Amino acid sequence: MKTVEWRGKPVWILRRTPDMLASLKKTDAQVADAKSERNPAEFTPEYCMNEYRSIKPEYLVAIGICTHLGCSPSTKFAPGPQSSLPDDWQGGFLCPCHGSTFDLAGRVFKNKPAPDNLPVPRHMYMGEGKLVIG
Ligand code: FES
Repeated sequence: MKTVEWRGKPVWILRRTPDMLASLKKTDAQVADAKSERNPAEFTPEYCMNEYRSIKPEYLVAIGICTHLGCSPSTKFAPGPQSSLPDDWQGGFLCPCHGSTFDLAGRVFKNKPAPDNLPVPRHMYMGEGKLVIG
Protein backbone atom coordinates (compact mmCIF):
# COMPACT_ATOMS: atom_id res chain seq x y z
CA MET A 1 0.00 0.00 0.00
CA LYS A 2 1.19 3.46 -0.88
CA THR A 3 -0.14 6.82 0.28
CA VAL A 4 0.10 9.91 -1.90
CA GLU A 5 -1.25 13.39 -1.31
CA TRP A 6 -3.90 14.87 -3.58
CA ARG A 7 -5.52 18.23 -2.86
CA GLY A 8 -4.17 18.02 0.68
CA LYS A 9 -5.79 14.63 1.29
CA PRO A 10 -4.18 11.20 1.70
CA VAL A 11 -4.97 8.88 -1.18
CA TRP A 12 -4.33 5.22 -0.63
CA ILE A 13 -3.28 2.96 -3.47
CA LEU A 14 -3.65 -0.58 -2.26
CA ARG A 15 -2.52 -3.55 -4.30
CA ARG A 16 -4.84 -6.43 -3.47
CA THR A 17 -3.93 -10.08 -3.74
CA PRO A 18 -6.36 -12.67 -5.16
CA ASP A 19 -7.18 -13.68 -1.54
CA MET A 20 -7.93 -10.08 -0.64
CA LEU A 21 -10.22 -9.77 -3.65
CA ALA A 22 -11.96 -13.02 -2.72
CA SER A 23 -12.57 -11.65 0.79
CA LEU A 24 -14.82 -8.97 -0.70
CA LYS A 25 -17.37 -11.66 -1.57
CA LYS A 26 -17.46 -12.56 2.14
CA THR A 27 -18.00 -8.98 3.25
CA ASP A 28 -20.68 -8.19 0.64
CA ALA A 29 -23.50 -8.97 3.07
CA GLN A 30 -21.84 -7.18 5.99
CA VAL A 31 -21.31 -3.76 4.45
CA ALA A 32 -23.87 -0.96 4.33
CA ASP A 33 -23.59 -0.04 0.65
CA ALA A 34 -22.12 -3.03 -1.15
CA LYS A 35 -22.66 -1.60 -4.64
CA SER A 36 -21.64 1.96 -3.78
CA GLU A 37 -25.01 3.31 -4.83
CA ARG A 38 -25.18 6.10 -2.24
CA ASN A 39 -24.29 9.49 -3.62
CA PRO A 40 -21.95 8.22 -6.35
CA ALA A 41 -21.10 11.75 -7.46
CA GLU A 42 -19.32 12.27 -4.15
CA PHE A 43 -18.08 8.81 -3.21
CA THR A 44 -17.67 6.54 -6.22
CA PRO A 45 -17.14 7.40 -9.90
CA GLU A 46 -19.44 5.49 -12.20
CA TYR A 47 -16.60 3.38 -13.59
CA CYS A 48 -15.83 2.12 -10.06
CA MET A 49 -19.37 1.15 -9.10
CA ASN A 50 -18.54 -2.52 -8.78
CA GLU A 51 -17.74 -4.75 -5.82
CA TYR A 52 -14.04 -3.93 -6.09
CA ARG A 53 -14.71 -0.19 -6.34
CA SER A 54 -11.93 0.08 -8.87
CA ILE A 55 -10.99 0.20 -12.53
CA LYS A 56 -8.47 -2.63 -12.14
CA PRO A 57 -9.58 -5.09 -9.44
CA GLU A 58 -5.99 -5.44 -8.24
CA TYR A 59 -5.78 -1.77 -7.21
CA LEU A 60 -7.96 0.18 -4.80
CA VAL A 61 -7.60 3.95 -5.01
CA ALA A 62 -9.38 5.64 -2.11
CA ILE A 63 -9.21 8.77 0.00
CA GLY A 64 -8.07 7.74 3.49
CA ILE A 65 -10.44 9.97 5.44
CA CYS A 66 -13.33 8.54 7.44
CA THR A 67 -16.75 9.65 6.23
CA HIS A 68 -17.96 10.10 9.81
CA LEU A 69 -15.99 13.04 11.20
CA GLY A 70 -12.84 12.97 9.14
CA CYS A 71 -10.30 10.95 11.14
CA SER A 72 -7.75 8.85 9.30
CA PRO A 73 -8.43 5.11 9.49
CA SER A 74 -5.58 2.65 10.05
CA THR A 75 -4.89 -0.43 8.04
CA LYS A 76 -5.90 -3.62 9.80
CA PHE A 77 -4.94 -6.49 7.58
CA ALA A 78 -5.37 -8.96 10.46
CA PRO A 79 -6.98 -8.61 13.89
CA GLY A 80 -4.43 -8.04 16.63
CA PRO A 81 -4.41 -9.84 20.00
CA GLN A 82 -6.40 -7.12 21.77
CA SER A 83 -8.33 -5.99 18.76
CA SER A 84 -12.05 -5.33 18.83
CA LEU A 85 -12.28 -6.72 15.33
CA PRO A 86 -14.32 -9.88 14.80
CA ASP A 87 -12.62 -13.27 14.52
CA ASP A 88 -13.69 -13.56 10.89
CA TRP A 89 -12.14 -10.19 10.03
CA GLN A 90 -11.03 -10.32 6.39
CA GLY A 91 -8.78 -7.28 6.50
CA GLY A 92 -9.51 -3.63 5.88
CA PHE A 93 -9.40 -0.38 7.79
CA LEU A 94 -10.36 0.73 11.30
CA CYS A 95 -11.08 4.31 12.25
CA PRO A 96 -9.59 4.96 15.71
CA CYS A 97 -11.98 7.78 16.58
CA HIS A 98 -15.35 6.03 16.84
CA GLY A 99 -14.71 2.52 15.58
CA SER A 100 -15.98 2.55 12.01
CA THR A 101 -14.60 -0.32 9.98
CA PHE A 102 -14.14 -0.60 6.23
CA ASP A 103 -13.36 -3.62 4.08
CA LEU A 104 -10.59 -3.91 1.50
CA ALA A 105 -12.71 -1.97 -1.00
CA GLY A 106 -13.27 0.86 1.48
CA ARG A 107 -16.89 -0.18 2.03
CA VAL A 108 -18.19 0.72 5.47
CA PHE A 109 -19.57 -2.09 7.61
CA LYS A 110 -23.20 -1.89 8.76
CA ASN A 111 -24.11 -0.31 12.09
CA LYS A 112 -21.02 1.88 12.24
CA PRO A 113 -21.04 5.64 12.70
CA ALA A 114 -19.52 6.39 9.29
CA PRO A 115 -22.45 6.89 6.90
CA ASP A 116 -20.64 6.18 3.63
CA ASN A 117 -17.88 4.22 2.00
CA LEU A 118 -14.43 5.79 1.76
CA PRO A 119 -14.44 8.10 -1.25
CA VAL A 120 -12.85 6.90 -4.46
CA PRO A 121 -11.43 9.93 -6.30
CA ARG A 122 -11.75 10.27 -10.05
CA HIS A 123 -8.70 8.67 -11.58
CA MET A 124 -7.39 6.97 -14.69
CA TYR A 125 -4.44 4.85 -15.79
CA MET A 126 -2.07 6.27 -18.36
CA GLY A 127 -0.33 3.13 -19.52
CA GLU A 128 1.00 0.40 -17.25
CA GLY A 129 2.84 2.24 -14.49
CA LYS A 130 1.13 5.61 -14.31
CA LEU A 131 -1.97 6.58 -12.37
CA VAL A 132 -3.51 10.03 -12.68
CA ILE A 133 -5.77 11.19 -9.86
CA GLY A 134 -8.28 13.99 -10.35
FE1 FES B 1 -14.24 7.72 11.91
FE2 FES B 1 -15.87 8.80 13.71
S1 FES B 1 -14.37 9.79 12.52
S2 FES B 1 -15.68 6.72 13.12
